[in-house]
Amino acid sequence: MHTKNTQTDTQKNAPAVNALASNALWQGRFEKKLSDQALAFETSIHVDSLMVFDDINGSIAHVKMLGAQNIIPHQEAKAIADELHKIEDDIRSGALTIDTGFEDIHSFIEHVLTERLGDTGKKVHTGRSRNDQIALDERLYLRRTISALQKRILTLINALCTIAEDHTESLISGYTHLQRAQPVSLAQHLCAWAWMLKRDYGRFSDALGRANLSPLGSAALAGSGLPLDRSYTAQELGFDGIVPNSMDAVADRDYCIETVSAAALCMTHLSRFCEEIILWASSEFGFIDLDEQWSTGSSIMPQKKNPDFAELIRGRTGLVYGDLTALFTMMKGLPLAYNRDMQEDKISLFRACGTLDSCLEVFTEMIKTAKWNTERMAASCRGGFANATDLADYLVKKGMPFRTAHGCAAAAVRLCIERGIQLEDLPLEEYKAISPLIEKDVFERLEPSACLKAKNTAGGAAPEQVVRQLESLRRFYTQAVQAKKE
Ligand code: ARG
Repeated sequence: MHTKNTQTDTQKNAPAVNALASNALWQGRFEKKLSDQALAFETSIHVDSLMVFDDINGSIAHVKMLGAQNIIPHQEAKAIADELHKIEDDIRSGALTIDTGFEDIHSFIEHVLTERLGDTGKKVHTGRSRNDQIALDERLYLRRTISALQKRILTLINALCTIAEDHTESLISGYTHLQRAQPVSLAQHLCAWAWMLKRDYGRFSDALGRANLSPLGSAALAGSGLPLDRSYTAQELGFDGIVPNSMDAVADRDYCIETVSAAALCMTHLSRFCEEIILWASSEFGFIDLDEQWSTGSSIMPQKKNPDFAELIRGRTGLVYGDLTALFTMMKGLPLAYNRDMQEDKISLFRACGTLDSCLEVFTEMIKTAKWNTERMAASCRGGFANATDLADYLVKKGMPFRTAHGCAAAAVRLCIERGIQLEDLPLEEYKAISPLIEKDVFERLEPSACLKAKNTAGGAAPEQVVRQLESLRRFYTQAVQAKKE
């Protein structure tokens, strides 16, 4: 199932109400039926339908366990499981459409099952509550969604490595305070983003590690009076184990918050990267030329080519922060155990994951198809005294204390500013006047490419170091892709 559900307002899509009146799972205790307005307000089926196959899989595991434990007869357990498989096929083929007149996806599936199997269908919910059922569905949703997001992150890391491999010697100014600082390479710059994305990948793995426990069998909140085997269903569904406390299992949504938090941080990285792309695509920088397929024009200014996709990703980052805030706020005042407030979690969870998914996809295409203007990038390393630190390092290597060397280099910069020239243009005699330690070889050392090569510390910008980073990133990529296949 896709994850791009951006449903924000269940009320707006109010169902044609009638089904619930007779189909509410809890109707027995009531004489009156919910009003149309009330159902339209409380229904969640437009949102939780996204987990329909998770819900069916969970029910199949549950009835198998009920059969294995002799809680319901084997034959009936099998009949229910078989019918659930058929329902899944029918939904996939379009033979069965989800009736949005139901309160939620759980009610709809149970209704169809009972319609088809009669009293046998009524046994599916034995020893189960929608409270553990929804928590289960969410964890199953998270498993496949996190894995899909991680694949997108890997694809982007791979794309960045491919570009970087061609640009380990392509000079570009590094900036601090958005002022030219020191020459780096485009590869070093891209690797910086790749490492951040690798950590995003790890955060999703961590979130998944904690989410991958089964809440099923916790029932409403206290567990069940029937001899359920929670480990059986956990194993059947591929969980690492069970949530150890039945109340915790149905009352927390920390797994949603963790996932959206990882998504928010990943969006932060994309957003900052987009900010650079927007700057770099301007005529002032001119470092990058975005492909026409990933640019837009203006309805009035015929010359325009705008980086709208980068701007949209930057903008959508705010939406994901909003979803994270919504989840935190929703949870902060809730006593144990289940509270209906928690129904709203899915809107934020699905939207945040969907937003990150599409942003990663679009960003990857945008960066893969962009052209890099290596001349403009290299030119940014000249004219801003980006080699001043290297002048100081040169003097340090000749034995001068760093603070004194910093002062000599600063004196040279001052002189150059007065004359409107660059450090590489200052005559040797003038350098000698600043420090007799300076010799003719200084001019080679001031070349941007020499400044780059000199940064040969581990993790530094020197091509040799960046090649090592790339090897390490590639190794991570290959191993992670392999692990996903297993
Ligand atoms: N739609 C509900 C949710 O998403 C399902 C659980 C309903 N439980 C209940 N006790 N009303 O949270």
